[in-house]
Amino acid sequence: MQYGKFITFEGIDGAGKSTHLAWLEHFLQDKGLEVVVTREPGGTALGEALRLLLLDHRQAMHPETEALLMFAARREHLDKVILPALERGAWVISDRFTDASFAYQGGGRGIALEKLEALEQWVQEAFSPDLTVYFDVPVVLGRERVQSTRATDRFEKETDLFFEHVRQAYLQRARQFPQRIRVVDGSQPLEAVKTAVAEVVENFWSDQADP
Ligand code: TYD
Repeated sequence: MQYGKFITFEGIDGAGKSTHLAWLEHFLQDKGLEVVVTREPGGTALGEALRLLLLDHRQAMHPETEALLMFAARREHLDKVILPALERGAWVISDRFTDASFAYQGGGRGIALEKLEALEQWVQEAFSPDLTVYFDVPVVLGRERVQSTRATDRFEKETDLFFEHVRQAYLQRARQFPQRIRVVDGSQPLEAVKTAVAEVVENFWSDQADP
């Protein structure tokens, strides 16, 4: 049985990942694949319980506690959902993964890269996504979209400066891993973003079929 592939979607809050995630799920199902769609923090019963604590704006916590809880949820997610699915040949799509920890806890909260790298090594060893689609949007646009669609959680209540740091950290990751992380301009009209995502995914797909 061939191992499945692991695809992640990233972006600041309000970057517009969700619509495209549903599209990708159908694209892969149409290829006859088993597709598992999941998210972080979350994806397991324990992970979803941790998510409630992490996103609750009444729940203050030390930045390192926040980082440790993100990785604790991820450890469970890998063990219970991601790795078993890949092992049985399913393709897994996750709404966020470790790049979000480097962006939010690293860039946003200012936790040292070495600390996050140590957690990454502990929890994942050499494992990382096969493809990451990063939706890049200016901070003001992300904020407008979040405020027009829902009540804000603990992260969404952060300042524009926080999100500027998160965005810059994502862009830095994209420069560091240009093969894996594909940047899509999420500020374009929906149809144009869809086309850009489709191009990234179709390129990835043909690379798999014809390595
Ligand atoms: P998000 O994925 O945006 O969900 P929703 O669309 O329901 O708001 O919310 C998850 C939040 O968690 C988001 O603000 C980013 C944050 N986060 C981190 O800070 N670090 C991480 O490692 C992960 C996975 C998420």
